[in-house]
Amino acid sequence: MTRLVAGDFEWGRVLGEGSYGEVVLARLKDPSPFPDWPTEFAVKKLSKRFILKEQSIMHRTGRDVQKQCFTEKNLLSKLSSPFIVSLFTTFTTTEELFYAISYQDQGDLRELLNEKGALEVNAARFYLAELFSALFYLHDNLVIHRDIKPENILLGKSESGVHLKLCDFATAKDVTTLKDGERASTFVGSAEYVSPELLGYDEEVGKYAVYESDLWAAASVVYFTLAGLPPFRAESEYLMYRKIETNDYSFPEGFHEEGKTLVKELLQLKPCERLGAGRNHSDIKNHPFFKEINWTDLHKQEPPTIR
Ligand code: ADE
Repeated sequence: MTRLVAGDFEWGRVLGEGSYGEVVLARLKDPSPFPDWPTEFAVKKLSKRFILKEQSIMHRTGRDVQKQCFTEKNLLSKLSSPFIVSLFTTFTTTEELFYAISYQDQGDLRELLNEKGALEVNAARFYLAELFSALFYLHDNLVIHRDIKPENILLGKSESGVHLKLCDFATAKDVTTLKDGERASTFVGSAEYVSPELLGYDEEVGKYAVYESDLWAAASVVYFTLAGLPPFRAESEYLMYRKIETNDYSFPEGFHEEGKTLVKELLQLKPCERLGAGRNHSDIKNHPFFKEINWTDLHKQEPPTIR
């Protein structure tokens, strides 16, 4: 197999700042060795020095950064879905690790919502169906994402129009790697989208991530997409967690009615009571909010325009 090195790429603008380095746009200088490869990539750079430094303070941070880097690489290598970014190759220099990932040229859902506010319902419905398709695929493959949020939902143009891809698998959990009786416990997600079980609201249940934790976070994304702001908002993280634990949110006037029932049925404190719990994807697919959606090959369908 042809191995690529950093010198094979022309480096462009910075696309984002990850926790351990930048994501940079990169173009292959010579024609690609593989005919089905794109010419542009989003290359995630991971600083070896930073990883080692973080590793030395793991006892304080609770973050195993080295493991997260490997998890992202391993999961992206084994997953293959139109709704998930692809990892094409990895390479290293003495200072850094590089992951060449599919470049999504239309930014992320957070930027889009910040710029346009709530999406028009047909566009929202289409992109949310793509988001749930990504989750169904992950959960069918025994992976919990654990950090579903608009910033990790990327948009990119393809032949049929702008489509969605989920990214950032650093904190995802490959359930198949859990030993007998072990659970995906650490709270790794982002404050606004964290599920009550990860805050330990139910002492009997304990703090652990389950497939349904992704459904809670996805419900917050549904709300955000239809309202233009997230469901749980507060001055401090502490107050936000209090609201999450007590399911204290309300809908703004004019919120789409079927969207409302979808959010309500997903934002249930008990994971097993959430719509689609137990990986019953058809409960979500058959929800009235998605009535107009044909779930087959969404990525090949022409999406409604985003206004
Ligand atoms: N930012 C982070 N990952 C990206 C990607 N794959 N495409 C575009 N921007 C990104």
